[in-house]
Amino acid sequence: MCYAIPGKIQSIDGKTVQVSYFGELRKAYNELHEIAVGDYVYAQGGFIITKVSPGEAEATLSIWKEEFFELQKVDLRISKVNVERSGIDKRLVTILDKASMGQGLGRDDYRYLLGLNDAAALDYLFKTANFLRQKNHGNSCCVHAIIEISNYCKKQCSYCGISALNAGLKRYRMSPEEIIDTAGQAVSDFGFKALVLQSGEDAGYDIRDLEYVIRTIKTKWPSLIFISFGEIGTANLERLYNAGARGLLMRFETSNPAIYRALHPGQGLDARIEHLKAAYKMGYLILTGGLIGLPGQTNEDIVGDILLAQELNAEMFSFGPFIPHFDTPLNANKPADEEMVLKALALSRIIDQKKAKILVTTALETLNPALRKKALASGGNSVMLNMTPLEYRSLYSIYPNRAHEKELIQTQINDTIALLRSLGRAPTDLSI
Ligand code: 5AD
Repeated sequence: MCYAIPGKIQSIDGKTVQVSYFGELRKAYNELHEIAVGDYVYAQGGFIITKVSPGEAEATLSIWKEEFFELQKVDLRISKVNVERSGIDKRLVTILDKASMGQGLGRDDYRYLLGLNDAAALDYLFKTANFLRQKNHGNSCCVHAIIEISNYCKKQCSYCGISALNAGLKRYRMSPEEIIDTAGQAVSDFGFKALVLQSGEDAGYDIRDLEYVIRTIKTKWPSLIFISFGEIGTANLERLYNAGARGLLMRFETSNPAIYRALHPGQGLDARIEHLKAAYKMGYLILTGGLIGLPGQTNEDIVGDILLAQELNAEMFSFGPFIPHFDTPLNANKPADEEMVLKALALSRIIDQKKAKILVTTALETLNPALRKKALASGGNSVMLNMTPLEYRSLYSIYPNRAHEKELIQTQINDTIALLRSLGRAPTDLSI
């Protein structure tokens, strides 16, 4: 199974190339040395990651050609906003009409949308977000693999089950060779083109080990590599970029500095934001966002969170529900409200219509498995499948009973592809 469709190089202008997908042209940044017009390539996140032989490309394209357009039709049909507006609040109609036309809205409007509760109004909001997703991104959906390489962490985040405070948790650290083998399987056996390597902070690796891991994966199995090791500092970010990492996944968790301080002893929001800004300047794709449903968080805070993700030039918005973990200081708190998470995803799509990919998180599925489909139909267009070896997966216990904790990767892939197809989505990283 393929998670990217090969494209054909149409023109080259320095590092920028035009790639054709069944006649539709997209721009991508090229870092490969030898590339010529007419070559077939795979692109991810706007980067050309590898050349494909014409034989392989044409075989894959012939499988896709018919289905690609068929799926597009299904998606287009589903994403029409057929709602009865007569009983709906005029303000909502005005706001969503403006949003649909790509016109800017104000903070008051955003707060108002997050405050909606009425079923018909919510349906209208979610459908508008789905319409905007289709209009701006077509039917593509990113399917990335995540490998949780270690659950060691020196931080003491009050919500997180792998925090250093959780002394009872058994810790693991995959060896560089284990990480490389798992990444190799992800790319060569399962067809992933984008990988996220994640760990707790200061997980006990030497930076040279991480450089070695990334360089080896990139050389043996060209792919788009995202790192998610917490605040590793600009010097290390630079080193891992030079080793081949091209994306940084790091949530700022909350844009409210007081909530941030309360939940992250001894740390400040500013340092985290500076880290994200520095990574963006270095050329990293930024994947960021926060937790919905934190104690003390208001709708105004959530609006601020989404605006902050946009300000940080997020390529992908990652907003998921807080789920209490029994072995943390927040164990007695309530989990996030399901609908609020969907509203936040829809609002993210309305605020950042053209650029952002919007992640449907595993935490959301953990809250309720039916929400994955709902979120994909409320603005979402990205998922991550868990490639962490089963022997370690349940130990990466950021919150309890994570969805897919015991599922083979092949099962996750099959279920995801079936779900995407039912919605007319193609598991690709292409956007219009
Ligand atoms: N509920 C939901 N998400 C959590 N994370 C950590 N703890 C929890 C929890 N209890 C998320 C954080 C972090 C990511 C790796 O996991 O947002 O950025």
